[in-house]
Amino acid sequence: MTDLIQPTILITGATGSIGSELAKQLADKQIPFRALVRSLDKAKALKHFKGAELVTGDFKDEISVIKALKGIEKVFLLTNSSEDAESLQCNFVNLAVKSGVKHIVKLSQFAADLNSPVRFLRYHAIVEQKIKSTGIQYTFLRPNLFMQGLLGFADAIKYQQKFFATAGNAKISLVDTRDIAAVAVERLITADQDDKIYDITGAEAITHYEIAQILSEVLHKEVKYINVSDEEMQAALLQFGFPEWQAAGLIEDYAHYARGEAAVIADTVKDVTGKSPRKFLNFVEDYKSLFG
Ligand SMILES: NC(=O)c1ccc[n+]([C@@H]2O[C@H](COP(=O)([O-])OP(=O)(O)OC[C@H]3O[C@@H](n4cnc5c(N)ncnc54)[C@H](OP(=O)(O)O)[C@@H]3O)[C@@H](O)[C@H]2O)c1
Repeated sequence: MTDLIQPTILITGATGSIGSELAKQLADKQIPFRALVRSLDKAKALKHFKGAELVTGDFKDEISVIKALKGIEKVFLLTNSSEDAESLQCNFVNLAVKSGVKHIVKLSQFAADLNSPVRFLRYHAIVEQKIKSTGIQYTFLRPNLFMQGLLGFADAIKYQQKFFATAGNAKISLVDTRDIAAVAVERLITADQDDKIYDITGAEAITHYEIAQILSEVLHKEVKYINVSDEEMQAALLQFGFPEWQAAGLIEDYAHYARGEAAVIADTVKDVTGKSPRKFLNFVEDYKSLFG
């Protein structure tokens, strides 16, 4: 009988890092939602969530987006940062407004700015500006570096006891994606009609050397942070299969971290969810088995 409840929330990016956690948290709260996914096969885990309705679609296929938006009042908007993310998201906003959506919760990034030297921060700012220009209610979630990004190094940490980046000795208030999702949930279910822009950070700012130290303590083995040059990082990213645009964007992103521009600590998680954000130690303890 639960099928009779029409969801009014649409999640995009539901197979990704934040979206999958958002789906789980909505299901835990018994809030029905629709998820637009490119592949039902990839979205298998979502099928088991109570109240989840899966629709296949792609931001590149307008008809599929229009179908997914039918009857929807609130949207969680997220794609990965690709060269066409800006146009895909702006087109999506047009379709959402036309279809009568009332509130867009957009996953943006900490320090999003039209004049930033970081391409990801510029495109997020352009999409934010686009959303504002439509007059629709909005929430912009601007999280800092994800703790879960370290999972990309899980094997290197497990088998070689090391990970690398170009962050230098800069402090970064990195944040757990579960806390970002928790803020998104609150904004998707709120009756508050005000527009909001939220910086989302963890409870502390730590360096990559301190990350290595915490990993070492929890895993009972020495894990090293290797600070590499931009050229070394770019070569490694290309070797891992990252498209050139994205690899260059990540180098710019890390230069921004290395300049110490991402050390601010925001109260958003506590203010919006009532719970303090997780510390990096909590993250490592929860994901310990993956790091070996
Ligand atoms: N990583 C960080 O530290 C960090 C920090 C701050 C902000 N951010 C922002 O966070 C966002 C990425 O979040 P995430 O890590 O949760 O993403 P993710 O894990 O990379 O997942 C991206 C999601 O977008 C979906 N998607 C991509 N292209 C699509 C399309 N054309 N049509 C429909 N769906 C599409 C993917 O579907 P498939 O499964 O089908 O591919 C997937 O569900 C980016 O905007 C980034 O700038 C990241």
